[in-house]
Amino acid sequence: MKANDPCWCGSGKKFKRCHRNVGATVQQGVISPMRTVPDTIAKPTWADGGDVERWDEPRVKSPEILERMRRTGREAADLLAYLGTLCQPGATTEEIDIACHQGAIERNSYPSPLGYPGPVSPFPKSICSSVNEVICHGIPDDRPLVEGDIVNLDVTLFKEGVHGDTNATFLVGDVDEASRQLVQVTRDCLEKGIEAAKPGNQINAIGRAIQTYAEDRGYGVVRDFVGHGIGEQFHTDLQISHYFHPRLTDVIEPGMTFTIEPMITMGSWRAQMWNDGWTAVTTDLSRTAQFEHTLVINDDGAEILTTPSDTSIHPFWALTTVAG
Ligand code: MF3
Ligand code: CO
Ligand code: CO
Repeated sequence: MKANDPCWCGSGKKFKRCHRNVGATVQQGVISPMRTVPDTIAKPTWADGGDVERWDEPRVKSPEILERMRRTGREAADLLAYLGTLCQPGATTEEIDIACHQGAIERNSYPSPLGYPGPVSPFPKSICSSVNEVICHGIPDDRPLVEGDIVNLDVTLFKEGVHGDTNATFLVGDVDEASRQLVQVTRDCLEKGIEAAKPGNQINAIGRAIQTYAEDRGYGVVRDFVGHGIGEQFHTDLQISHYFHPRLTDVIEPGMTFTIEPMITMGSWRAQMWNDGWTAVTTDLSRTAQFEHTLVINDDGAEILTTPSDTSIHPFWALTTVAG
């Protein structure tokens, strides 16, 4: 965004007179020691210091695996819906992480992010919590949420040998109109992406639908992070770009399972990493939101595997904190 452009926040003022000099709202905080998961719970290979194991997993899943993925996906969605109710002023992201960790264990599940290997160090927590200008992979710490924040919670559970991966952005108390619009548009981008995920379409139709919808409304689409094939592995080789990528010509087929998880920005779509090797923020510190579902492709289109069992919760989530 250039100095004389209208500011991304919608104030009508020039960027240089508005948000250019507004600094980060999130800093590196204090991260408590890693929590443990009892040995009665089946763990992925990276738990307790192991590596990610990769193998050639069929993209098209058997009906039996899909049944397991439906159950695990629902557990992840139910946990995320509950954690959304905790996104209130004063709650720390660490408290939300503890609730995620305990919720996973109560569901006989392993919280997939815990110990996941990264470039600097393994991910030390059970949930990713990404506040305001944090695009994704924020590490829960001692920062209390403040009124007006937006916070994305990304829950992945491993149960019955398969992963279910879902995230949503929640509003903390009263949130300004521009940020609410951002969250709404991001939710709609996920819906557009899911509509494009039909058998016979190329994978790139998903990113094309998302990019068109976001850019027509003046928002940016993050390019550095993608959706992914999922199943017995957390991330397979299948990549789902959220912008139009002409080379992604593989055809979408019934039985495929993958995530769509667009990250949408008010300003620049460019990402910058903190030196923790995990936290990604927008380069201009503009706010950013994300929503994610795990999907299976059926003959007539995508089925959401991460739908909460409470049918009163809209599959693309409420704009306010989910009712408790
Ligand atoms: N859940 C994230 C995704 O949507 C991945 C988090 S990996 C972690 O793919 F290590 F940061 F937890
Ligand atoms: Co994902
Ligand atoms: Co996720």
